[in-house]
Amino acid sequence: MAFVEAVVTNFLGAFALFLLCSVIYNWIKSRGHPPGPLGLPVIGYMPFLGKNPNITLRDLSKTYGDIFSFYIGPQLIICVSEYELAKEILNHPLALARPPHSFDFLVGRGGFSGMNGEEWQEQRRFALSTIRSLGLGKGLWETMIQDDAAKFVKKIKSANGEPISYSEPLALSQILNSLSLLFGRHLDPETDKEDIETLQKLNRKLMDKFSAVDLTLNLPWLTKLAEFLNLSGLQDFMVLLNNFEDIFKKEVERRLQSKDEWTKDDFIGCYLQEMEKRESDSQPHNFTVENLRGNLFILFVAGQDSTVASVGWLLLLMAKHPDVQQKICDEIDKAIGRDGTVYYGDRNMLPYTTATMLEMMRWIAINPLFPPRYVLDTFTFNGFIIPKGAHIVCNSWAMLHDPRYFKDPMTFKPERFLSEEGKCLKLNGYGPFSFGKRNCPGEGIAMMTMYLYFVSIMQKFKIKTPYDLPPDMTYKFSGGILPNPQKLCFVER
Ligand code: HEM
Repeated sequence: MAFVEAVVTNFLGAFALFLLCSVIYNWIKSRGHPPGPLGLPVIGYMPFLGKNPNITLRDLSKTYGDIFSFYIGPQLIICVSEYELAKEILNHPLALARPPHSFDFLVGRGGFSGMNGEEWQEQRRFALSTIRSLGLGKGLWETMIQDDAAKFVKKIKSANGEPISYSEPLALSQILNSLSLLFGRHLDPETDKEDIETLQKLNRKLMDKFSAVDLTLNLPWLTKLAEFLNLSGLQDFMVLLNNFEDIFKKEVERRLQSKDEWTKDDFIGCYLQEMEKRESDSQPHNFTVENLRGNLFILFVAGQDSTVASVGWLLLLMAKHPDVQQKICDEIDKAIGRDGTVYYGDRNMLPYTTATMLEMMRWIAINPLFPPRYVLDTFTFNGFIIPKGAHIVCNSWAMLHDPRYFKDPMTFKPERFLSEEGKCLKLNGYGPFSFGKRNCPGEGIAMMTMYLYFVSIMQKFKIKTPYDLPPDMTYKFSGGILPNPQKLCFVER
């Protein structure tokens, strides 16, 4: 008995010494770093982040300042919660990278979003110029989005004003739309049924893994271990991811075989043409079939749920604020009428509607925490040492609800985005798509898609909740702030 007691006492003593040493070690190591909460040895602050880490981190910023630090396991996170500081740090040349290996589990290593250095610059530059040339200005993608928005309007019209679960058909409409921009063809709901189901299933699951404070992005080695041990159904998730990859493989293979389809009208066509051109230049380049698949994947998933969520939140906000809804309907009736074609280029004619979209993006903060950046080498910022290897996470939710920039930040008020003359304003403090060289390359497409869907719906319907109950505005925190599926009535007007 005495022996057992001695073993237990020695073990507890050794454990206490280990904890003490690790606290002292962390304290010495973090001298000069931004201050922050201690957290627990080994696991850090992870267990205290709660259900809404954006709010927990905003509260911590009130104690520790606009730049503070904490640990997720052994990974140091630098959290920035103020607009000017976030803009500056996200543009710092040593903070333009993503954490190496964090996207390795994704199709094609997550395309240019998982890349760093010259490879990232080359592939991102190409993606941006392709999006611009196909999507914005030329009008080709606009026509495809208009068509899909019209089909969605037809679908909700068929409910004849009765309550309808709109989120599934909206997500499906978006999946088909995003893919058609990338593939240059529409998947067929009948013949491509299996592929569409895979895409639908994976979408939501991916968003869960994309929270900026999730273990997947911050401790990639742990993802491998978790997959090996099949923790939180990770093996099933990987199977789904492989099926997902097969869809892209199949499409790229099909296009490689039929060169006459390498038109300039979609992302695959443009990429294959560029690949051929680079091959003939005989200069080193990174245009490969694997990178094409990765780019397709990231362009598809990065925008998918955020855009669906944006349209979904707009609809719920209409039901919640009938006064705002009435002003939007009046503005649309006056500017384009109930049967006029909706063009993104005409948005200046709908300033109140546009201001409502901007306010929705602020009030909800769809991407509450920007995905982590990786510090390539130690630098000094705002008087603090930002060490090599740290991850930088900017709290977009805190920035968009910062009373220093937005008066009465918790109130939904589209008027804040309007000048006295009724023109749409750009407000200081506003940046839901992030800033600088590594900001969201899909901003233009996202805003255009959101506008075309929203205005096409509001042109035709009045939105109400079943039995006039308040809409459910709660959400589950993940990579994005997504509305809970629910029913709405779309009453023809
Ligand atoms: C409401 C819609 C959207 C929001 C709020 C949003 C927001 C963001 C944010 C905050 C980032 C992180 C940028 C950074 O690290 O500084 C990002 C990255 C990204 N977004 Fe979006 N996004 C949206 C829609 C889209 C769409 C439609 C696409 C595709 C067409 C897209 C493609 C991407 C890609 C590829 C990245 C990674 C960029 C890189 O690492 O170089 N996003 N987005």
